[in-house]
Amino acid sequence: MGFLNGKVALVTGAAEGVGVAFANAVAAEGAKVAICDIRENVADRAREIGNTHGVETRSFQADTGLPEDCWRVVDDTMEAFGRIDILINNAGTISMTSPTDPWEKSIEDYDLVMNVNNRAYYLFARAVFPIMKEQGGGDIVNIATDHIFTERNRPSGGGWVMDNYDSSKWGLNGFLLSWSKAGEPDNIRVNGICLGATDSHMLRSFTGEENLTPEVIAGWMKPTDVAQVVIDLMKDGRSGYNIPVWRADPVVLTPRTDDFSLKVGVMKSAFKA
Ligand SMILES: NC(=O)c1ccc[n+]([C@@H]2O[C@H](COP(=O)([O-])OP(=O)(O)OC[C@H]3O[C@@H](n4cnc5c(N)ncnc54)[C@H](O)[C@@H]3O)[C@@H](O)[C@H]2O)c1
Repeated sequence: MGFLNGKVALVTGAAEGVGVAFANAVAAEGAKVAICDIRENVADRAREIGNTHGVETRSFQADTGLPEDCWRVVDDTMEAFGRIDILINNAGTISMTSPTDPWEKSIEDYDLVMNVNNRAYYLFARAVFPIMKEQGGGDIVNIATDHIFTERNRPSGGGWVMDNYDSSKWGLNGFLLSWSKAGEPDNIRVNGICLGATDSHMLRSFTGEENLTPEVIAGWMKPTDVAQVVIDLMKDGRSGYNIPVWRADPVVLTPRTDDFSLKVGVMKSAFKA
């Protein structure tokens, strides 16, 4: 018996990468799980998760960059399971960008990265918020990046080749602050995970096959450890936090704090609560 027995979790981008670990972690706690991904193997992945943990699963091949796909995934999850208690907004993409990029490339990059990393998070939350309100509560977890947690580790963000990616993730702060307040009366908790380097399909491709030495991989976090932080976060019941998770620290849920800049992870000098 897990603490999520009877609950339903929706995890986006869970055919590969860290999302698979999130889906496995909630399934291990007894939740029924719906996953979506642009990749065809999403159906195999859902079967694998169901067989491993003995829970019902559903899979949807969907492009979260398209509003109609976001809506369809939520609608079909409701049809299958009748409720949604947990949304893990995880599907993400990256493209190398620079202020000197050609105009057409810049527009394409912006549309791709913003739609998948930002608009889809907004739309999934928009679709599940009324459902969670009606049910009397829920958890929304947005997967961000350590680039936006300036209070401690990465004041310069992702550097000069990630302006677009970093903007898409910085934008999640607006959702975090607003949704956590909006959800409070209805027991809807909203948090962000400010993730550092974690072994995944994305990080391996970004690093390049030729650089994948055992030492490099050993320096990354394991998706299962990160997923455990998300489980601990939901057990803890807090809301309105950006949780820093990176290798320099133990990969554990940080303590609750009354310090607003530590809670959200934005430099005191840059933001007054
Ligand atoms: N791995 C890291 O080091 C790291 C660090 C910081 C933040 N993140 C964030 O964590 C999340 C997961 O990243 P990951 O490293 O597991 O990446 P990944 O590429 O290994 O996995 C992401 C999954 O999302 C899916 N996806 C991408 N675009 C999609 C779309 N349009 N529609 C549906 N599915 C789509 C991919 O097919 C893939 O299965 C992302 O939001 C990423 O920005 C990762």
